[in-house]
Amino acid sequence: MSFSKDFLWGGATSAHQFEGGYNLGNRGLANTDYLTSGNRQNPRRITLKLSNGERFDAKKSFHGISIPEGAKGCIYDDTYYPSHNAVDFYHHYKEDIKLMAGMGLKCFRLAISWSRIFPKGDEKEPNEEGLKFYEDVFKECKKYGIEPLVTMCHFDIPAYISQTYDGWLNRKTVDFFVNYSETIMTRYKDLVKYWLTFNEVNILHDYECTGTTKNSLDARFQVNHHIFLASAKTVIIGHKINPNFKIGMMEANFYWYPETCNPLDSLRRIELSREWRDYAIDIQVRGAYPNYLLKYFERKNINIHIQPEDDDILKEGTVDYLGFSYYNTSVATTRVNADETGGNVISAIRNPYLKDSDWGWQVDPIGLRVILNDLYDKYQIPLFVVENGIGAVDKLEDGKIIDDYRIEYFHDHFVQLKKAVEEDGVPIMGYTSWGIIDLVSNGGGEMDKRYGFIYVDMDNEGRGTKERIIKKSYGYMKQVFESNGEDLNIRGEYDIYG
Ligand code: BG6
Repeated sequence: MSFSKDFLWGGATSAHQFEGGYNLGNRGLANTDYLTSGNRQNPRRITLKLSNGERFDAKKSFHGISIPEGAKGCIYDDTYYPSHNAVDFYHHYKEDIKLMAGMGLKCFRLAISWSRIFPKGDEKEPNEEGLKFYEDVFKECKKYGIEPLVTMCHFDIPAYISQTYDGWLNRKTVDFFVNYSETIMTRYKDLVKYWLTFNEVNILHDYECTGTTKNSLDARFQVNHHIFLASAKTVIIGHKINPNFKIGMMEANFYWYPETCNPLDSLRRIELSREWRDYAIDIQVRGAYPNYLLKYFERKNINIHIQPEDDDILKEGTVDYLGFSYYNTSVATTRVNADETGGNVISAIRNPYLKDSDWGWQVDPIGLRVILNDLYDKYQIPLFVVENGIGAVDKLEDGKIIDDYRIEYFHDHFVQLKKAVEEDGVPIMGYTSWGIIDLVSNGGGEMDKRYGFIYVDMDNEGRGTKERIIKKSYGYMKQVFESNGEDLNIRGEYDIYG
């Protein structure tokens, strides 16, 4: 068995990191529009106005932030906000999709910006200009035989919902989201088959994602519950709109190797996995809260509002496939002061067997095979690698970007992906690398951390022509995509620079 003939090879993006056009076509503001740029030394900030009119910048934090009562997101003229223009897919979409088609891409993962369709979020009627924009994008994809994979919510929420309803803490937001998801699924029922409800649903704690300023365990799990409910309702409705839809969940995949054979390290591994990953998959794939989470609620005295009908909704609205992002693994240890390193969303414990990327995220191709097996053994539904890639500093010299490190990274991961399919028999629907075209980093808000096979002439402050320049890795990916993963060789024949 090799990759199936309809294996979805491609690349992935999100609206706030890629699209731009933040105030065009009647789009409303999203909380992500208040996020400043940053870099390795300086974290991104959310700019707010306090009720007394003073400016307040809150550090972006995955662990939630404390925002003073009455503060509201505010855009300041002296500040650069990367999402506003991002790399301007809004105006470049025809050129970008043509470049993607040129590399043999079969699937393009993109996110719809909720506030482009419902500018405030609570309207009954959608914004036609927003709907038309994505319709044009999907038609352009179809022209080249590219299958869109649509994320309905990639870390964003209309600012109005955040400020008026306290975001996902309010159960009304479930209805607003379902109105949005039903609208887009109805409109694009013949153009889009593959959907993801929420990006990295297991880590939605940041203010820009949740829309609430409350920061407590009760609030965290109430927000989670509403999001799980909205996702399940969307799955139920989506299958009625078009029974051929494949609607998946998307989780940030974390995986820990026990540091030693000390049983406590293994126990720690289980605890970490449940805390950061498994609970979300259990709810969305199995359709119920797992016992360990209910016990955790009891221990921590966590009280959330669950309506009697919610259990049935979660049970009925289980997903068709499990999508996940994969960047790095970590180590489970009971040792204090273990050496920390970077990682996607949460920092990791350094593994001496692995090498670091420029950002300290440890590169672990075999980890991809381990995770694919682990997830399939546990959940027995089709898997989809919807993000994977390496953020690196690329150098543009004489009009070329020789990114051999990126080619090596993908080669090594593809070898493991292939083994998971051919030797382990794991059903995998597709693989979309993160950022086909360079885009703004989510964590740092910078451009220096590049993921694409196509370079964008733009710096950390948004300066540059936004010209697209093909990197050496573009040729390698073309070879892999066009051979349906048969030809993974790094021979150099793909080298478009000659
Ligand atoms: C994932 C997100 O967590 O990781 C993307 O879904 C993000 O939005 C990607 O860009 C890589 O993270 P970063 O911080 O390097 O952009």
